[in-house]
Amino acid sequence: MSERIDLAALPQDFLWGTATAAYQIEGAVAEDGRAPSIWDTFSHTPGKIANDDNGDVACDHYHRWREDIALMRQLGVNAYRLSVAWPRVIPGGTGAVNPKGLAFYDELVDALLAAEITPTVTLYHWDLPQALQDRGGWPERDTALAFAEYAAVVADRLGDRVKLWATLNEPSCSSWIGHLEGKMAPGWTDLTAAVRTSYHLLLGHGLATRAIRAAVPDAQVGIVNNLSTVYAATDRPEDQEAARRHDGHVNRWWLDPVHGRGFPADMREVYGVELPEQQGDLETIAAPLDWLGLNYYFPAYVADDPEGPAPRVRSVRREDVPRTGMDWEIDASGIETLLLRLTEEYGARKIYVTENGSAFPDVVRPDGSIDDPERQDYLEGHLAACASAVRKGAPLAGYFAWSLLDNFEWAYGYDKRFGLVHVDYRTQVRTIKGSGRRYADIVRVHRGQARRAA
Ligand code: FCB
Repeated sequence: MSERIDLAALPQDFLWGTATAAYQIEGAVAEDGRAPSIWDTFSHTPGKIANDDNGDVACDHYHRWREDIALMRQLGVNAYRLSVAWPRVIPGGTGAVNPKGLAFYDELVDALLAAEITPTVTLYHWDLPQALQDRGGWPERDTALAFAEYAAVVADRLGDRVKLWATLNEPSCSSWIGHLEGKMAPGWTDLTAAVRTSYHLLLGHGLATRAIRAAVPDAQVGIVNNLSTVYAATDRPEDQEAARRHDGHVNRWWLDPVHGRGFPADMREVYGVELPEQQGDLETIAAPLDWLGLNYYFPAYVADDPEGPAPRVRSVRREDVPRTGMDWEIDASGIETLLLRLTEEYGARKIYVTENGSAFPDVVRPDGSIDDPERQDYLEGHLAACASAVRKGAPLAGYFAWSLLDNFEWAYGYDKRFGLVHVDYRTQVRTIKGSGRRYADIVRVHRGQARRAA
């Protein structure tokens, strides 16, 4: 194991974590004053989710969080990335704060710290209060302002103990999958709304960054993007151009503005949608960041799709390559490429891999154990690539495996299992999988090396 991963390359104070998101694990959707989010609405719309699953119960983490922290202790991790559910904290989206909602996260944070696990809080992992959707949602500027208000409330309450903050998780999914492809909440297929959403999400990110810093002067603030390595499926110039557009769509559109480069001009032209710009916005969006979050899952191979909707690109499925249970191509070198790109092209000073992982159909043995060699291999391969990037200069400060638990995988429902820990949804029994045990070994070896070196 340790031969494959150059653990000595990783910094001594490396954060070894697991990640989750509120709607995917909490359940208890109508408890203690929580109001619906767009994901409650979407998942309760027939036909939107595999098996018509929803997050009503999920992993029941809202009631079982103590057990889940105990599992993290068993894994030996020293960090945990969680998201706060906006509709628990400010059920109406703006205005009245729900004390019980805040109290839940307050207690959770205390327990994590008592377990010597550093909490990393993501403020928005896709669960917009439905009340704000009813007022127009992310295509409206007011939603960005509401997000900053909510960020201030959470930072004010948790900021004495939580120092690592992420504003948004994967704004590209909220924008493109949620408002252009219609496969995630709120399920729109409207380019103008999607582009306006992307703009207001990034504006909200900038405003929230400012709000967090005001409440927590020593906060370390970042943003989490899911990035992809992008390749043209053929040498044809049209496909090369398509690859450039896809890179703009999934990578540059999200990275350039927060680095003070504005929205990429070529993509503005491709979308042909006027941005709802106001004076000073670009500076707000480019608020200096302490770190960048990278979620990496798979590479993209694309071709020109002249008749398709913007950005007129279609994915090309390559044959004879290894894939996960999501049908996502496995390419560990992509995580190294992206870590180096963030370092070299964007001058990142600190990066966390905020998500990386794989779904495979798990088989529970008669004795209840689960061996998942494919997930273990994915994990090790990607960790090896991370360590290699560090050797080449990437300032990687931590890795958060997606995910701690099997959970509600959005439009795929409960069919796709990403957990290092298996969840039996009938009984809510949790069982650490082989990959989880392997992760624990890796973490233990590295932390041991680091302790001896200190
Ligand atoms: C990412 C999401 C996360 C999870 C993984 C598999 O896009 O941020 O919630 O669904 O994919």
